[in-house]
Amino acid sequence: MPVKKAVIPAAGLGTRFLPVTKSVPKELLPILDRPMLQYVVEEAAEGGIEEVIIVTAPGKEGIASYFQPSPALERRLTENGEKGLLDKVLHASRIARVSFVIQEEALGLGHAVLTAREAVGDEPFVVILPDDIVHHTPGVVAQMTAIFDRTQAGVVAVEPMPWETVHNYGVVDAVPVSHPDLAASHPALVEERGLHQIRGLVEKPPREEAPSNLSIVGRYILPPEVFDCLERTPPGAKGEIQLTDAMLMLLESAKLYAYEFQGIRYDGGQPLGLLRASLEYALRRDDTRAAVREMLRGIHIE
Ligand code: G1P
Repeated sequence: MPVKKAVIPAAGLGTRFLPVTKSVPKELLPILDRPMLQYVVEEAAEGGIEEVIIVTAPGKEGIASYFQPSPALERRLTENGEKGLLDKVLHASRIARVSFVIQEEALGLGHAVLTAREAVGDEPFVVILPDDIVHHTPGVVAQMTAIFDRTQAGVVAVEPMPWETVHNYGVVDAVPVSHPDLAASHPALVEERGLHQIRGLVEKPPREEAPSNLSIVGRYILPPEVFDCLERTPPGAKGEIQLTDAMLMLLESAKLYAYEFQGIRYDGGQPLGLLRASLEYALRRDDTRAAVREMLRGIHIE
């Protein structure tokens, strides 16, 4: 069964961006001229996703309005002959079919995903955390759906992180599928670069308890059975219902893979990560590269 739906949790408080997140949802903060959220919705659409379910929270209504048509603005741009701007504005509301569910209480990432249960139904889906921005073509969702098409099993994006930072992430205990112990049972997958079979997972472990430094980056393809696990998952790290804990439970009855994706990941969940993403995206874009280089050359602050 192909993956056609994405769940994008966007209900968090955005504490690392306070005070701006008092009134602007973190997910709408821009990389250059587009909100972070748009980058991941585009990544989803490029990966074959047809329906995007965004989990928001009371007070974050700006997220829904961003994806809805804006007739007054569109009329004005048309009258003024601003074709380029009009295309940009229309594009945002046409990337994919977008719907919204509200997480009334901030009970954690796992709970946010569970809130989307009815909207997802009984099919595999991808979870995309919008503050993990990854630059690559094809995008991580496309890379992962290609793997899912072959395995029909859950797959989680991972990246080796510096050991002193693993306590910020979900961390996997995993064996490369090319490992001699697994190769016999995975003949069709041994050539798959960066693919590991997961044996265990732990959310935000202290460095000395981390089973590896392979840390989860916000892309997951999960079977619908994960919802039953989420229903039974008690609060874990930070007192929140954690998706990582539900995946550990899922492992009792299903295979899960960890995939070292291709691409450069930016931590858009904190100001300096977003600044770096903005600079590097601007340096990659033809319409901004020269001006940004010039701007950087002109900065002389000790
Ligand atoms: C979440 C997940 C964590 C994952 C991380 C990636 O944590 O719980 O497993 O490694 O996203 O960004 P958060 O950053 O929301 O604390």
